[in-house]
Amino acid sequence: MRVLGIETSCDETGVALVDSTAGLLGQALHSQIDMHRAYGGVVPELASRDHIARVLPLIEEVLQQAQLSRADIDAVAVTAGPGLAGALLVGTSIGHAIGFALGKPAINVHHLEGHLLSPLLATPAPQLPYVALLVSGGHTQLLRTERPGVYELLGETLDDAAGEAFDKTAMLLGLGYPGGPAVSRLAQFGVAGAVTLPRPLLNGNSLDFSFSGLKTAVATAVKKIENQGGAVCEQDRANIAREFVEAVVDVLATKSMHALRTTQLRTLVVAGGVGANTQLRERLQREVKKLGAAVFFPPLQLCTDNGAMIALAGLHRLQRGAVSQQGVFEVRPRWPITAVDDY
Ligand code: KG4
Ligand code: ZN
Repeated sequence: MRVLGIETSCDETGVALVDSTAGLLGQALHSQIDMHRAYGGVVPELASRDHIARVLPLIEEVLQQAQLSRADIDAVAVTAGPGLAGALLVGTSIGHAIGFALGKPAINVHHLEGHLLSPLLATPAPQLPYVALLVSGGHTQLLRTERPGVYELLGETLDDAAGEAFDKTAMLLGLGYPGGPAVSRLAQFGVAGAVTLPRPLLNGNSLDFSFSGLKTAVATAVKKIENQGGAVCEQDRANIAREFVEAVVDVLATKSMHALRTTQLRTLVVAGGVGANTQLRERLQREVKKLGAAVFFPPLQLCTDNGAMIALAGLHRLQRGAVSQQGVFEVRPRWPITAVDDY
């Protein structure tokens, strides 16, 4: 069975074709980062308009890559939530229209289920069950991934996502958007211990996160230097970046290890853009060894938003018996991960 996946929940238009036996047949992606950069973050209305222009050409590109035609599509999978309502509506309306026109099912997919299953497209793939650390611009969650369709939320951010904290810190340090890679690079020139920032919710048994206080602490550190009479120099910025990265990595690594201990699972899978962070990767590699566990980093194109993860999650939903209500759809900007088969 061949499933066409369409992802438009935020600032990436992703399309892919996944076959139930052959795996990934083709994929194409358009990132809107350059368009949103001027505004320092994602502008929802611009995101929706751009998705409209991109989806159909990307579908043609994927079909050409796979050397297949529309008639070869057996089902369409679309991200129906969570995400930006207008952006989700673009993908769902196009996906359901294609399903209707082809007389094939159109399946609504939970965006996070896509992230949780996408590592299974890698070769070699991690063994289920695993603990997933999902760290992107929009999500920070620890989930027990038992098998497709069965997920347990172990902990999540109570406010900002880890990537959001990176992006806001980058703004405060005068680095562009998105700021994660720039903050991470600058941190390598920082002096350890020159600045002290908090590690929110680090102690105790909670697997929840909180990053908004960290961003405020960065703003306060910058102000403090300015108040001491002078501009913030490059070394000051590097020192703050270093301590910021260490604080985020401390929190993410400590809670991930705690999640492995409490679930007694031996595999940690990291997904989302922040998973590209070198300092986080090195720290997790060291920490899992102490537990006799393993950490799995899928290739970056599977970690960040993409159409393949939506096609795969849709395929699994179909295999679990999901049926499409032809021509009837709505988007779910909020949708609990424990209820992926509810809709
Ligand atoms: O998963 P993703 O590509 O998109 C969504 O948020 O959906 O994640 C993007 C986030 C941004 O906040 C970006 O700053 C962060 O991931 N990021 C990083 C790095 N590369 C991307 N954060 C820290 N270090 C990196 N190397
Ligand atoms: Zn995402």
